[in-house]
Amino acid sequence: MSLIAARKRIFAITISVCAVCGICAQNNAVLRADKPGAAVRSTMYGIFFEDINFGADGGLYAEMVKNRSFEFPQSLLGWKSFGQADVLEEGGPFSRNPHYVRLTPSEHSEMRTGLENEGFFGVTLTKDSLYKFSAFMRAPEGAGIVRVELCNPAAMGETQTLAEHTFDVSSPEWTKYTAVLKPDADVKKGVLRLFVEQTDRNRPVDVEHVSLFPGATWKNRPGGLRRDLAQALYDLRPGVLRFPGGCIVEGTVPSQRYQWKNTVGPVENRPLNKNRWLDCFAYRLFPDYYQSCGLGFFEYFQLAEDLGAEPLPVLNVGLVCQYQNDVCQQIPLDSLQVFIQDAVDLIEFANGSTDTTWGRLRADMGHPEPFNLKVMAVGNEQWGPEYIERLEPFVRELRRQHPEIKIIGSSGPNSEGDDFDFLWPEMRRIGVDLVDEHFYRPESWFLSEGTRYDDYPRKGPKVFAGEYACHGEGKKYNHFYTALLEAAFMTGLERNADVVEMATYAPLFAHVEGWQWRPDLIWFDNNDCVRTSSYYVQQLYCQNRGDRVLPLTMDGKSVAGLEGQNGLFASAVSDGDDIVVKIANTGETEQPFTLHIRGLKKSKPLLHLTETRLSAADDAENTIERPDVVVPVTVTSVIDVSDEWSTVVPARSFIVYRFKH
Ligand code: AHR
Repeated sequence: MSLIAARKRIFAITISVCAVCGICAQNNAVLRADKPGAAVRSTMYGIFFEDINFGADGGLYAEMVKNRSFEFPQSLLGWKSFGQADVLEEGGPFSRNPHYVRLTPSEHSEMRTGLENEGFFGVTLTKDSLYKFSAFMRAPEGAGIVRVELCNPAAMGETQTLAEHTFDVSSPEWTKYTAVLKPDADVKKGVLRLFVEQTDRNRPVDVEHVSLFPGATWKNRPGGLRRDLAQALYDLRPGVLRFPGGCIVEGTVPSQRYQWKNTVGPVENRPLNKNRWLDCFAYRLFPDYYQSCGLGFFEYFQLAEDLGAEPLPVLNVGLVCQYQNDVCQQIPLDSLQVFIQDAVDLIEFANGSTDTTWGRLRADMGHPEPFNLKVMAVGNEQWGPEYIERLEPFVRELRRQHPEIKIIGSSGPNSEGDDFDFLWPEMRRIGVDLVDEHFYRPESWFLSEGTRYDDYPRKGPKVFAGEYACHGEGKKYNHFYTALLEAAFMTGLERNADVVEMATYAPLFAHVEGWQWRPDLIWFDNNDCVRTSSYYVQQLYCQNRGDRVLPLTMDGKSVAGLEGQNGLFASAVSDGDDIVVKIANTGETEQPFTLHIRGLKKSKPLLHLTETRLSAADDAENTIERPDVVVPVTVTSVIDVSDEWSTVVPARSFIVYRFKH
């Protein structure tokens, strides 16, 4: 045999061996279509909302007036007053928000008395849009005239006024006055101005709960949510909504913990709470960051329902934020009952019949049907024996009264380490249903944790990855590479859907002028919002969740960026008749990839492929100015595959392949 013939023969043998064993070519993966594994729950991928970064007031909650009830510790913070404006406390209409302002007109026809509100980073108005103004007012002496204006203080034209309305306030009783205002020009940093007109008898007018909402809110609910931000949440199709925090559940001191009962009922009487993100970072201080609680527990439940997501409230366990307190201020064990009762009452508020106290309130607020609460977390990022001794009585009582509700415990603030190692066995012993794990970790962690859950015990509490995000080393912002690593890591969540029942990225929102923490999923200013690369990763997972995990391996191992796997991470699910394969190539070179599909009926080959790709330069970032730098791109093609399919996965890309028959 000639040398050439011998070479040809070796080549032919090699090809046929590869075809048989399927392992010689690079990146051969085996997908078992005939061996569906764990069910993927509807709650698998979700969102975590916390009022951080002006996510609620100044964000999702569409109220445009800051300090609308004059309850900030400095009563006129956010306001400028002129003339004789006095803050009073006795005789207001709302017992839990007692302050109001008395405006007494001047005797001089060219001197004025009034208030001007700066809004949240400005009162931002759009020409010809409608804005709903309201205020509670009374005329103690039986008559008064109040003018309300939307203004551009920096206007160069003859007038600053963009829209106005005059109220004849004649009743000495507190009355709600409303008007719809339509500005005739745009303004970014506008103000709301309100002043008493000079009258012959200089009679004062009292003003309380001054409010301005865009006419168009999410689902057009009065006093509702910002439409574009709620729409961005809806477009994710999240399976679960965790709320309201995070550290704000804990509070810096016990009195500032989040108390859900203060956040329901008429908004005018929901007491103000300090937001712990106001001053916890001295280098990012926001002295005017308070919670009006206009976005409260009713609204959270309603939002979850709108989104088709399961509501997941987090309750204070009787501990303040342990990060913020070297000596943790603990609620004594014999005073814990009120905290436990809050949890029990919350279940009644969400699920109870309308003839119960809290169920009736839910109905009075407009939702007689139950909200179908199934799971709650007790404690956020708590740790140590002080957490355990408080969690236990909660679990005992909740199990006794509400065995139908699943309980989530915490594994502390870290993804590993002493607290984590102490808490997990305790959670097993106590018998919580899920354990909340948090990981804000660098690139190296995400690259090395692809198999984190492969060896987790299959018995006992399940995992809720309640807060996570890849924090780039030296680059803590939403650039593409970190999003790619989140996508890569999430293949491990999906593969282990029998252990990991839920996962929620964090935090959700950030105002570009008011953030304390980044990266975040969605950035916004007063006009626009921008969906980050991480948003699109979450969206691709939410929208391609599937129903059962399908085993996908390379050389019998999970595809998880392991040695010899060339930076590839992958997982697969069935979705009805479809097969969905997610692949992240975290490497710097493109990778050939061959899928050997086992168990597909030859009579039913895969005939269509939809490929959705997220790919960009490492530092690429979506911003308000350039929101579409990193967006998913979908292409559909015709294929004919019954057992093998090959592709090339570009460097630094995350791709969802959906195969259809
Ligand atoms: O998401 C921001 C914060 O991170 C949360 O409030 C807290 O739970 C965690 O430390």
